[in-house]
Amino acid sequence: MLSRRGFVQALPVAGAVFRAAGGAQSDPAQRKAMEGVLAAIPKAEADPERPVYHFHPPANWNNDPNGTIFYKGWHHLFYQLNPYGSLWGNMHWGHARSRDLVNWEHLPIAIWPTGGSERAIFSGGAILAADGRPRVFYTSIGRPQPEQWMAIPTDDELIGWEKPASNPVLTQAAHGGRIVSDWRDPFLFHEAGRTYMVCGGNSGRREGGSGQVHLYRAENEDLSRWRHLGAVFEYRDRETYNIECPNLFKLQGKWVLIISPHRPCEYFVGSLDLDKVKFTPETHGVLDAGDAYASNISVDEKSRTILWLWGRTNLPAERGWNSLMVLPRILSIGADGFLRQQPAPEFESLRGEEQIHGVGPGALEGVRGDVLEVDAEFGATNTPIGFEVRRSAAGKPAATVVIERGTLTVGSARTYIGSLDRYRLRLFLDKGCLEVYVNDGLAALYSPVAADPKDQGIAFFGPAGVKATSLRVWPLRPAKFNLDRFKI
Ligand code: FRU
Repeated sequence: MLSRRGFVQALPVAGAVFRAAGGAQSDPAQRKAMEGVLAAIPKAEADPERPVYHFHPPANWNNDPNGTIFYKGWHHLFYQLNPYGSLWGNMHWGHARSRDLVNWEHLPIAIWPTGGSERAIFSGGAILAADGRPRVFYTSIGRPQPEQWMAIPTDDELIGWEKPASNPVLTQAAHGGRIVSDWRDPFLFHEAGRTYMVCGGNSGRREGGSGQVHLYRAENEDLSRWRHLGAVFEYRDRETYNIECPNLFKLQGKWVLIISPHRPCEYFVGSLDLDKVKFTPETHGVLDAGDAYASNISVDEKSRTILWLWGRTNLPAERGWNSLMVLPRILSIGADGFLRQQPAPEFESLRGEEQIHGVGPGALEGVRGDVLEVDAEFGATNTPIGFEVRRSAAGKPAATVVIERGTLTVGSARTYIGSLDRYRLRLFLDKGCLEVYVNDGLAALYSPVAADPKDQGIAFFGPAGVKATSLRVWPLRPAKFNLDRFKI
C-alpha cells in the first residue's frame, strides 16, 4: 500500500485502508473511534471516584486485557475498548505500553473493525513468531460466524497493525463439520518448538457441563495455517455452559489452565499431553472471587509470569468511563500445588510516607484517604478481624474486609483461605476499587467500592485486646498515564 510517506507495507492486506508504519496514513474508522474516546476524556477525568493507579483507558468502556506481551523493553497491553460509550459494545482493541507496569503511555487504538462485515474485534492473545516479532490473534465478529484472525505489526512500537490477506487463519471449517458455539478468545503458547492456540467455547448443548477449550497447532512458520487437534479440556461441571478467555501456559514445570466461565475465573494446575490432546488437572481453585474476569498472561524479561485481569466497576453510563485493569499480578505455584498471586512489587514506587506501626481496634487516628496501601499482620483469632475502608464521618464503611473462620470476605465476595496461625493482609485502595491480598498471595480479591468522595476514614477491627503485630499504611501517588501519543 502506498502512503503519503512512501511504500511501507511488505504484506498484502485484506479490507480497506490500513495504518502504515509511523502513522503515515490512518483509516477513517480508526480516526472516528479515537475521536469518540477523546470526546469523553473531560467527563471521565472530572470524576472524583476514578481510580488513579489502576490502568484504565483514556475514557469510556474497557473489558478484557488482550494480546499482553513484553517486547523490546515494554509491557504492551491491548484491551477490549468501546470507543463510543461507557457501556459494553463496538469492541476495538485499545493499546498502551509501560516500562514498569505502573506508569503508562496510551497509544492509538490498535485494531478496529474493517472489511465491511467485520462488526467487532473480540478478545485474543499475542505471541512471538519465528521472525522474532509479535503477532496478535483475535476473534473477528460479524462474518457471520466468529473467525480467528491474525494481525502483524508494522513497527517495533506495535502501533501500526495490518491484517494479512491470509486471514481468516481459522474458521469453523477447522472443526470437521462440528460447530463450536461461542467460539472465541485465542490464546497462544510455544511448546517443543511448535506454536499452539487455545480458544474457548462450548459443545452447543447450552447446558451445564458443556464448556470446552479447543487446541490448535500452527502448521507453518508465519502462523497463517492452523490445525484443530481437539478439545483439550471439557469442563464437566454442572455450573458451566461455556468457557471464555482460556489461558494455557507452563509455570514451574506444571501446566496451568485459567478459564472465564461467566462467573469468577477458575484455575487448574496439572499436566498437558499434547499428543493425546488432554489437559489433566491436579488442583483447582477460584482465581479471584470478586469482580475480576477474562484473564490474560505475559512473561517479562525477568521471566515473571504476569496475570492480567479486567476489573468491573459496574457504573451507570453517564460517568464517561467504566472498568479498569486489576493490578498486574505475579503468578507462582505454592508448595501445596495451588496458585499464588502477588501484586507487582513495582507499585511500591508510588508509596508516600509510611504512617503507622502496631495498633489495636478502632479508627486509625490521623489516617484518612481513598488512595492507600495497607499492610497488616496479626495472629489467629476466632473472632472476625479486618478493616473498614471509605468510612463516613459517622463511621459507616463503604467496604469491609474481614477474616473469619478461615474465609476472607470483601464486600459481598468471599473466598476460603484456611485457618492459619498468622495472617498478612495487604489492601490496595484506589478510589472506587479495592484489592486485597492474603499472606503470600494465597488469595487475591478485587472489588469495586461505591463510596461518597468525602468518605475517607479507615478502621481496624478485631477482638478486644487484639493488636496488629504490624500495621503500615502508605498514601499512594497517582500513576502516570501519558496521553501525548494518543493521536493519529
Ligand atoms: C469476556 C468476553 C470475551 C469476548 C469479549 C467481548 O469478557 O465476553 O469472551 O471476546 O468479552 O468483549
